[in-house]
Amino acid sequence: MIIRNEVSRSLIPKFLKSVGERRKNDLPIISLGLGEPDFDVPSSIKDALIQVLKTSKLGYSDPMGLLSLRQKISEKLNNENHINSSPENIIITSGSKQAFTLVCMVMLNPGDEVIIINPSFVSYIPQILISEPASYIKVINIRKSDFSFSIQDIENQISSRTKLLIINSPNNPTGYVLNSSLLQNIYALASERNLYIISDEVYEKLVFSKHHHSSIGSFEKAPKRVITINSLSKSHAMPGWGLGYACFPADLRQRLLALQKHINSNTSTLIQEALDRTFFIDNQYLDEYNARLLKRAEIINKICTDENRISLVQPDAGFYAFLNISETNIDSDTFCSLLIQETGVALTPGIVFGEFWDDHVRISFASPEETLGIGLQYLTQFTRKL
Ligand SMILES: Cc1ncc(COP(=O)(O)O)c(C=O)c1O
Repeated sequence: MIIRNEVSRSLIPKFLKSVGERRKNDLPIISLGLGEPDFDVPSSIKDALIQVLKTSKLGYSDPMGLLSLRQKISEKLNNENHINSSPENIIITSGSKQAFTLVCMVMLNPGDEVIIINPSFVSYIPQILISEPASYIKVINIRKSDFSFSIQDIENQISSRTKLLIINSPNNPTGYVLNSSLLQNIYALASERNLYIISDEVYEKLVFSKHHHSSIGSFEKAPKRVITINSLSKSHAMPGWGLGYACFPADLRQRLLALQKHINSNTSTLIQEALDRTFFIDNQYLDEYNARLLKRAEIINKICTDENRISLVQPDAGFYAFLNISETNIDSDTFCSLLIQETGVALTPGIVFGEFWDDHVRISFASPEETLGIGLQYLTQFTRKL
């Protein structure tokens, strides 16, 4: 198998070395790096899991996923996202990452081009290159001043070999939310130039500003060129539990089925059964969580406004803030490496989101207020000293 260098190379050698040294010396780490929500999994899901274990004989499921759970996912997509789907258009996967990879595997051929909007989730490029090592990635970088991009930016990158465009709104790492009219224009462009779109919507429930999440899949009568992927990792605090899904155009079904059947058999039947019993739980807990996320985003924004060496375009969603550290004149790997050596605070160097973003660092505010407060205090002390 050809594994391209981009898949395994480390872009942050200094930072990783510093993390390793701290761990070796048993020194504490204040982690503001991870994308794991800090609220607990809804108790009804835990109860359902125990119930399923006690009362059901579990075996393999349909490789595409339990029909009744696919029905519920389809109902949710129809009602909440206005995506006209049916259980036949749904595959349940081990997290949204697996959905993304399977879709790229069935869709991409050698020579195909994929457009990515950077900064983007760290796994997209490796996943594309694992799926089709002879594909090409074309990168659009959004504007640093306001995290915006235009339809023209996308259009400029399209060639006769472009097959696929990846969008991620709400976005990791910036926290932007694409508005409905831009999405509509993107959809029209994709139709005109015959592109597929993967829309990664894993942060759809964590919107804490006046913006609304819209699904680009809602602009078509039935899934035709948009593949919507999602998971319960962020909305239900279930990262690592492995429950994601994709809603795809009918012509991809047979190939997705074949891959899932032979690679994975099926997504964990235990988790699927538990989710099938609890899929429509009351998710009011998200209102409270989003209110906390907003407060945390405001605190970070205030600190960045007060400090003259870090700046921020305040996020509207998700739980990351993407800080501009260009005024420090230090690259992101060195910045994060020095920061953890001197203070124990771990952030994510911007370079992992694309070379153009080496003057940014990502802070995750999915951490209790106390941890976040200490982390921010150390961060400001550190930047003042630089
Ligand atoms: C944009 C984005 N997509 C996908 C994932 C992975 O999600 P899952 O746990 O569903 O595989 C993440 C995780 O951080 C993410 O930020």
